[in-house]
Amino acid sequence: MLKEKLKLKIKENNNISFSEYMEIVLFDKEYGFYEKENVFGAGGHFTTSPLISRHFSHCIAKNYIKVFKEEKLENIVEFGAGNAELSKNLIYYLKDKKYLPKKYYFFDKSLFLTNKQKKIIKDLNLTDDIDFIWINKYEDLPKKAFIIANELFDCVPTDLIRFKKSYYEKVYINESLDISWKKYNLFSEPSAKYLSVPHNLKNNYIFEFSQEQYEIINQINKFINKAYFLIFDYGYSATELYINDRMDGTIVCIKNNLSDFDPLIEIGEKDISAFVNFSYIKNIFTRNNWSASAFMNQGNYLLSFDILKDININNFDEVGSIKKLIMPNQMGEIFKVLIVQKNLSKIPDNNFIKNDIIKL
Ligand SMILES: C[S@@+](CC[C@H](N)C(=O)[O-])C[C@H]1O[C@@H](n2cnc3c(N)ncnc32)[C@H](O)[C@@H]1O
Repeated sequence: MLKEKLKLKIKENNNISFSEYMEIVLFDKEYGFYEKENVFGAGGHFTTSPLISRHFSHCIAKNYIKVFKEEKLENIVEFGAGNAELSKNLIYYLKDKKYLPKKYYFFDKSLFLTNKQKKIIKDLNLTDDIDFIWINKYEDLPKKAFIIANELFDCVPTDLIRFKKSYYEKVYINESLDISWKKYNLFSEPSAKYLSVPHNLKNNYIFEFSQEQYEIINQINKFINKAYFLIFDYGYSATELYINDRMDGTIVCIKNNLSDFDPLIEIGEKDISAFVNFSYIKNIFTRNNWSASAFMNQGNYLLSFDILKDININNFDEVGSIKKLIMPNQMGEIFKVLIVQKNLSKIPDNNFIKNDIIKL
């Protein structure tokens, strides 16, 4: 069982870091949360934007067409496609508009979800029109691509760091599955400088630090030469993230669509995620010579791609789901989109109604 496996791993090393804990709890090949059962939707544990309305994916399709017209990116790559709802609706829309990409790549860490995606995509009966390719190694990525990641970075394992007046500490989990803090030389890690941690944090302030996010971006950069990358997730720029209200860090667990803040109980039965520090993500990309062209909240992005024009305003359910995606008090504000690009001949003109890139 998961707990036994965890305890064994802890015994071998005396303790494990929070990122190692998250890795096992979420992604263990036998017992991990993402390997066991359907975690999505009303019957699962949480609901993501593509599941709320197909119009979310249609906006991304419109974005793809706009970029395609200028840059001819014929491959789409989706990281962490979950149950393939986004890809399915995106592909239907692009087929209808006669803009299907040549190849659609799926890159997912979960074998369970990869198999689910394969089944769902097979049932679309579109394999004559488009090549669907599942990969699990960065070197198999195409050189040029339009890339999408929705709610990928929030579940990437992270460490927990605590600021003390003159040093930092890092969380470890011991054999009794309790936490302990150990002194930690945060800035000996090359990626820590990209966090944009402010100098005036309060004593005992806790924040997340994911070196795996850093690795993922570096690997993508290594194998991709030309790209337009859309990153959707919940989170903030560093200046908005590190506020005193978030003294205890931003880890959230979710089970049966209810959230709590204790990742050490009901182990393996709930999701664990953290707010994304978009400044960190952007800094890692720009250090690799990508340019960050836009950052805005999800509501503004979807409105910029005319989500309201495509809906049937007499359909009460449809209007309700769009409200959920765009309203500031629902997913419209806390969810953001960051757009980064590499070697494009120009920044595609998207006429965004608001672009907060300056905040990063
Ligand atoms: C929160 S789910 C989001 C699923 C889907 N994008 C959606 O919005 O419904 C996170 C997804 O990312 C995948 N994932 C997590 N870490 C990953 C990694 N390092 N590389 C690729 N996929 C990953 C998970 O298996 C899962 O499919």
